[in-house]
Amino acid sequence: MLQISFLPQNHSDQHHSDGKTDGETLEKGALAVLVPELTHENEGHTLTFHGLKKELAESLAQAAKAEEFTGKEDTHCVILAPAPHISRVVLIGIGKKEAFHAWEAEKAGGYAASLLGKEKTASLITGDISGILAAHVALGAVLGAYHFSIYHHEPEALKNHKLTALSLLTSHVDEAKTLWSSLSAVAEGVFFTRNVVSEPANILTPSHFADRLSDLKKHGLEVEVFDRAAMEKLGFGALLGVAQGSINEPRMVVMRWNGGEKGEAPLAFVGKGVTFDSGGISLKPASGMEEMKWDMAGAGAVAGLMTTLALRKAKVNAVGLVGLVENMISGKAQRPGDVVKSASGKTIEVLNTDAEGRLVLADVLDYTCKKFTPQLIVDLATLTGAIIVSLGHEYAGLFSNDDTLAHDLEKAGLKTGEKLWRLPLGKEYDKLLKSDIADMQNISNGRDAGSITAAQFLKRFIGETPWAHLDIAGVAWAKKSRHGQPKGATGFGVRLLDCFVRTGFEK
Ligand code: BES
Ligand code: MN
Ligand code: ZN
Repeated sequence: MLQISFLPQNHSDQHHSDGKTDGETLEKGALAVLVPELTHENEGHTLTFHGLKKELAESLAQAAKAEEFTGKEDTHCVILAPAPHISRVVLIGIGKKEAFHAWEAEKAGGYAASLLGKEKTASLITGDISGILAAHVALGAVLGAYHFSIYHHEPEALKNHKLTALSLLTSHVDEAKTLWSSLSAVAEGVFFTRNVVSEPANILTPSHFADRLSDLKKHGLEVEVFDRAAMEKLGFGALLGVAQGSINEPRMVVMRWNGGEKGEAPLAFVGKGVTFDSGGISLKPASGMEEMKWDMAGAGAVAGLMTTLALRKAKVNAVGLVGLVENMISGKAQRPGDVVKSASGKTIEVLNTDAEGRLVLADVLDYTCKKFTPQLIVDLATLTGAIIVSLGHEYAGLFSNDDTLAHDLEKAGLKTGEKLWRLPLGKEYDKLLKSDIADMQNISNGRDAGSITAAQFLKRFIGETPWAHLDIAGVAWAKKSRHGQPKGATGFGVRLLDCFVRTGFEK
């Protein structure tokens, strides 16, 4: 992880600087400077730089003017060698200061990190933003500098990922450090998620995934692993039916964090962990099938969230459950038309073996409700291709039986940039799951409302518990990079749910 430090910046602004302050020593090497947008009143004038020595501030202002750089959001300007000891300055536009909140700060940090990728170390001048926002800039920089390159052996692949240490210069060092002590836990959680989601399926089998979750005991989580025999005892016929075609044995893993009051019902988080989804006998087309290594991103997000809660010692009781299976095709694989009996006792006609995520979740959700009687359940799953048709890659689908829960999740989504869009549930949709031979079938007969019928299926295993289902098929993996979000595994859900827990449930 990119090493972060917070150091005091030059306190006086350019007009009064004596040029001899703490910040001065850091004005060398590569620098990033956050620059608020020129306002109406000073339009046409030059930018002002807080926290820089006078001469440097003036020469940067001139260069920026020559480049017509005005500090608009999502723009930058590179200035080479503006002073003897400074190799490169990247000015990062942060837009209007009134609209610069936590998520914008994270994007700016990510932007800086990607522009500084060729440097080994760099400093970032935060200007006159608060210590809180400076810590969010740091989070963005750390997340933006992430790369998964454990399988690369050629240095060429790493040439844009050299940045190992970033000093953030701020006038509010203590405030920034305090928040960073918990935001760095968020970064660790997101990294855990991205790491497991990036792993190929030949490495990250259900048992290997379970081992990596067992490692989380080192952070103070209680971790319990259920193997096939244990799940047979629990009557997990739906999950085990999916698993039966693979030589890689299934697991269910339960992670507990008890940071809240003794005896208080936990918040429950449940994740789909299909380590590879070939579709089974209802085989997927070859093109793009490799993407199905990340069909465990829901489970990855749950594990990343639990990591974060443990590392920042969250004052809350939480339990994370993941169902880990590989959906394969073989002589032992489940057939279309098979009928399985779920842990709830309800029978399911499996009309399509590629609608496997809901079968896995059916048993884990039922177990979660009965075993933990949680305050609420949030499940995350790369459940349907249909959600990508509906929402693309901007929003995850949100389904809920509880308006307050749905609203709180939406709010956390806006704060963290991990946005959610609510879709309806209703008994007319539920009827589409009626089966001729069993209590329900695992798909509706047509393709219509595919994400909703999937959510209706899950709802049948919930009972009265407040519940939300996040369909993250469109947001768990990014084909293009964005600021703070290198392409590949996004870690979607960790920041969202960390914010949801922090703002709603911790005293
Ligand atoms: N894992 C897939 C959904 C998915 C698709 C995730 C694309 C990420 C990207 C899921 O198991 C699946 O195959 N769903 C089917 C359901 C259908 C058979 C009713 C789908 O969406 O096609
Ligand atoms: Mn599938
Ligand atoms: Zn799947």
